[in-house]
Amino acid sequence: MTHLRGKTIVLTGSSSGIGAVAAKKMARAGARLCLVARDGEQLSAVKAEIDAAGGKVWIYPADLTDEAQLNECAAAILAEHARVDVLINNAARSIRRPIEEALDRLHDYQRTIQINYLGAVGLTLKLLPRMLEQGRGQVVNISTMSTQVPIPLFSAYLASKSALESFSRSLQAELGHKGIDVTVVHFPMVRTPMSNKTRIYKHMRMMDTDAAADWLVKAVREKPARIARPLGNVGSVVLAALPGPATRYTQPLFRLMDWRLKKKLEK
Ligand SMILES: NC(=O)c1ccc[n+]([C@@H]2O[C@H](COP(=O)([O-])OP(=O)(O)OC[C@H]3O[C@@H](n4cnc5c(N)ncnc54)[C@H](OP(=O)(O)O)[C@@H]3O)[C@@H](O)[C@H]2O)c1
Repeated sequence: MTHLRGKTIVLTGSSSGIGAVAAKKMARAGARLCLVARDGEQLSAVKAEIDAAGGKVWIYPADLTDEAQLNECAAAILAEHARVDVLINNAARSIRRPIEEALDRLHDYQRTIQINYLGAVGLTLKLLPRMLEQGRGQVVNISTMSTQVPIPLFSAYLASKSALESFSRSLQAELGHKGIDVTVVHFPMVRTPMSNKTRIYKHMRMMDTDAAADWLVKAVREKPARIARPLGNVGSVVLAALPGPATRYTQPLFRLMDWRLKKKLEK
């Protein structure tokens, strides 16, 4: 079990949702937080709360889909902090759209890949040399339970998260023996600005941001290879063993779930 006290943690996507709550929790536990997101005002608001509680925090407003901004952000972090103990790649965007409605929308796939995969990989590549110099470091990559089961309607989002999971496996396999730990977090649905964008999910039961942020604290404390719900883990085993039936027989259930959620919304 690792203590957070004194650890320098770079947390992307910390201007809102799970990231903002996790930043405050980690600062309370004594970590030094480097917060990254595009919205400087929101980051300043999170920083003000951490400052007021006596925590240690720095902000780095940057659009991680812009390579120049990503490089500048990484350079500033490396210049201002002697160590980088943990990088949490949490910044992301989600798109819910049937593939048939995306036939003229290759940009859906480009936009999700750009932040969810390339933004995360880009920052990892820049901060990794410092972790290797230190002889240890941890990369926590945020994914979703939806890559563990055959969820429809999120093809662009899920493909980008699956790519990030694959990169995570390579990172662990190649650099584990040099002190690099990699954790993939498969969140279930969490009530945040991201999930609130989908109207029919208004009445869906979801994890709250406080519990989700606790998963990130656990990721840093315990450094497991994966944090996930048991249902997601069972889903990934069934999907690996029986991809055809696992996909075919679950789709009517997802359609039924959407139908019920729509009915609730109409009431
Ligand atoms: N909510 C869910 O149901 C759910 C389920 C499974 C997994 N997840 C994952 O959990 C993580 C956190 O999501 P959330 O629900 O907390 O979403 P959120 O509230 O929408 O937060 C997303 C964060 O990413 C940042 N971001 C987006 N684009 C960016 C860019 N180009 N450059 C830098 N930062 C960028 C946003 O900040 P700015 O807008 O200020 O840039 C924001 O801080 C994500 O990886 C998401 O995929 C969420």
